[in-house]
Amino acid sequence: MTVFPFELPLPTMWYVVLLLVTMLLHVAFMAYVLAGSMMLGIAGFRGMLGRVPRDSAWQAVTRVLKDWMPFALSAAITAGIAPLLFVQILYQQEFYTANLLSFHRWMAIVPVLIVAFYLLYLLKAHRIEGRLALQGAVAMVVMACVLFVGWSWIENHLLSLDRDAWPEQYRTGAMVYASPAIAPRLGFWIVSGFATASALLAWQLSLAASGVAAEVAARAIRMLAIVGVVATPAAGLIALPALGFWSADEGLRSGTAHLMVAAGAGAVVAAAGFALVLRRSSAPRAGLVVASAGLTLMWLGLLAAREFLRLESIGLESLSARHERVGTLSGLIVFLVFAVIGLASIAWIVRTVHRAQHGLGDPK
Ligand code: HEM
Repeated sequence: MTVFPFELPLPTMWYVVLLLVTMLLHVAFMAYVLAGSMMLGIAGFRGMLGRVPRDSAWQAVTRVLKDWMPFALSAAITAGIAPLLFVQILYQQEFYTANLLSFHRWMAIVPVLIVAFYLLYLLKAHRIEGRLALQGAVAMVVMACVLFVGWSWIENHLLSLDRDAWPEQYRTGAMVYASPAIAPRLGFWIVSGFATASALLAWQLSLAASGVAAEVAARAIRMLAIVGVVATPAAGLIALPALGFWSADEGLRSGTAHLMVAAGAGAVVAAAGFALVLRRSSAPRAGLVVASAGLTLMWLGLLAAREFLRLESIGLESLSARHERVGTLSGLIVFLVFAVIGLASIAWIVRTVHRAQHGLGDPK
């Protein structure tokens, strides 16, 4: 097979596939958090968060977001761990160099995420219900924190690929890497985040999340479908310049052509799905299935093309020898032991919460 990444040497192919699959999961939650924090931040700025709930579509969306953002943020963080592992295996030298060059600035992600996490719980607290200014301020700080983290990942990604900038970055001790590619790339992640979050929020509302009444949910889903219809093709188009496909040389561009076609087809299918939701917002599930399938295809195409560019620009030969060596290192038993412990812990937590929710506590 000649479709990327299946034509790569086996160990490299295997790590790229694992990176793409796990990255897709990170993207789903991260998009929800990125767009969700912006929706809450904008609503907060406009003084719309603290008001007594009215039955408007916008209120329904912010209500679901307030309830689910703490979970979504923790899921985005957790789902970031697996691609983090595979990025390090695939691009050891490039990734660590970028981390080290902007060390304190890079590590700032951790306290910033902790602040965002606790503020999201504060936003949910009944104690600040109705306090317009306070809720607005909290939501805007959360938005700033999330944008900072997104910007940091982009900066790290671009710095890791810009070898020429490393000596100067080291010499000056600069903690910020300035590049004209950062802003458009952030723009792409925000627009694609709105497209993806629209589908996820519409699913939640169609499943009566946060107890939103069916009639209000239908209006909110309509509003989200409008966002999806616009944002999905826009994300596909912005990706071309923002992720570096346009500026790549001819060989690289033709290497990604089939992936970009897949991504484009995904964007069109997703937009059609959102349009279907608009036509039938009281029974949106069929449209949402189509939109979600389209978004998945779009993301797989874009993420694979993004990886193709990176592998080719770093140089496959230098990387594949290391991947081959790493692929012979054993650790399966340790992995399986921890996998079993992890799965058992998750099962125990789910069972405990289920029993507590249904009043099935142990008889005393
Ligand atoms: C609010 C939290 C987060 C946001 C908004 C966010 C956003 C992003 C963005 C925008 C990118 C794409 C970078 C690019 O290609 O330009 C990215 C990549 C990535 N993120 Fe996250 N992220 C978050 C948290 C995390 C955390 C906590 C982890 C790790 C535990 C993580 C792991 C990754 C990995 C491994 C990549 C791929 C990096 C690469 O390919 O160079 N993310 N993230």
